[in-house]
Amino acid sequence: MRIWVVGGAGYIGSHVCKALRRAGFEPVVFDNLSTGSRENIAPETLFREGDILDTQALLKTAREFRFDGVVHLAALKAPEESMRNPELYSRNNIIGTLNLLQAVLETGIPHFVFSSTAAVYGTPEYLPVDEKHPTHPENYYGYTKLAIEGFLEWYGRLKGLKYGCLRYFNAAGYDPDGEIQGLEQHPVNLLPVVMETAMGWRPKLQIFGDDYPTRDGTCVRDYIHVTDLAAAHVAALEDLRKGGESFTLNLGTGFGITVKEMLHKAQEITGRPIPFEITGRRPGDTATVIASSAEAKARLGWVARHSDPDTLLRSTWKAYQAHEAVSSNRSRDRHPLARS
Ligand SMILES: NC(=O)c1ccc[n+]([C@@H]2O[C@H](COP(=O)([O-])OP(=O)(O)OC[C@H]3O[C@@H](n4cnc5c(N)ncnc54)[C@H](O)[C@@H]3O)[C@@H](O)[C@H]2O)c1
Repeated sequence: MRIWVVGGAGYIGSHVCKALRRAGFEPVVFDNLSTGSRENIAPETLFREGDILDTQALLKTAREFRFDGVVHLAALKAPEESMRNPELYSRNNIIGTLNLLQAVLETGIPHFVFSSTAAVYGTPEYLPVDEKHPTHPENYYGYTKLAIEGFLEWYGRLKGLKYGCLRYFNAAGYDPDGEIQGLEQHPVNLLPVVMETAMGWRPKLQIFGDDYPTRDGTCVRDYIHVTDLAAAHVAALEDLRKGGESFTLNLGTGFGITVKEMLHKAQEITGRPIPFEITGRRPGDTATVIASSAEAKARLGWVARHSDPDTLLRSTWKAYQAHEAVSSNRSRDRHPLARS
C-alpha cells in the first residue's frame, strides 16, 4: 500500500512516515522543503521535491506512483503570520489543497487523510471540546483548515472521496527512539521554545500572561505527542481502507497542563536553568483548551500513549541534545538563534 505523504518532510509528517513504514505501508514524500528538511526523510523513503501549487508536478507524481491513499500535511501553520498575510495562507493552504484534490480525483486515489487543527474551534464554549463544538476560528490559519474540511465534505458528497479530518490539539514531543531529529527551524510552540531557551539559543522564555483563571494563572493546553498523532494517521487510513465512512476527529489527551507546570518539569528534566519573563496576554489566547478524543477512541480504537509531560519533554530534550552533539563540530550559524 503506497501512501502519498504530502508535507512528509516536516515535523509531524516525518513521524507519520515512520509509523506508516512500521505498519507495512510504503510512504512517498512530496514536499517543497519550505519548512521541512531532507534530514527528516528516512533514506529508505522515496522523495519527490515539489510544490502543491504546481499542478503538473502533482499530477506527474500521482501518475508515477498510483497511490492507495494520501496524508496531506503540507501547510503554513503560523496563526500570527496568517493574520498579517492572509493571501499567502489562501494560496498555500487553500489553493494548494484544491490542486492536490484535483490530482487525487483525476488519478482515482480513494482515501484522503487531512491534518486539521483545534484552531477551527476558536475560544471554547465548553470543555472538553468535542467534535460537535461550534467552529469559529479566530485566526485566518484556522479558517483555511475549516475551509478545506468543507471542500472535503463536498468532494465526499459529489465525488465519493472518502476522507478523515484529524484535528490535532497541541502537537509536541519527538521520536522517543531518537531516529527523527530534524529540529523545527523557527518554532512557535511552547516545548521547542522552552528547549531553545534551555540550550541558551534564546535569552529567556516569554510567558504570555499569568493572570488567567487557571491553577497558576498561565494557560492550560492539551499536548499530544507526535508519535501518537502519527499512529492516528495509520489507524485512519486502515479504517478508510476497510470501507469506513468519512470522519472528523479530535486528537488530544483530555488532560491539560499549564505553561508554568511544563516549564518547571522542563527545568527538572534538562537540569538547566530556563529563564522566563511574564509578558502581556496575546490576543486570541484563551485560558484553557482541552480536547475530548472519545470519538477517536470509539471510531479508530486510538488513544494517546506517549503524551504524558515526562515523555513529551524527555523525547524533545533528547532531540535537542543530539543536535547539540552534532552541531558542536559545526559553525554556530546553523543554530536558529544565530540567524535571527
Ligand atoms: N504542529 C502543530 O502543533 C499542528 C497542530 C495542528 C495542525 N497542524 C498541521 O499539521 C501539518 C503539519 O504540521 P507540522 O507541525 O509538521 O509543520 P511543518 O512546517 O514541519 O510541516 C509542513 C510541511 O509541509 C511542507 N509544505 C508547506 N507548504 C508546501 C507546499 N506549498 N508544497 C509542498 N510542501 C509544502 C513544508 O516544507 C513542511 O515539510 C500542517 O498542516 C499543520 O497545519 C500542526
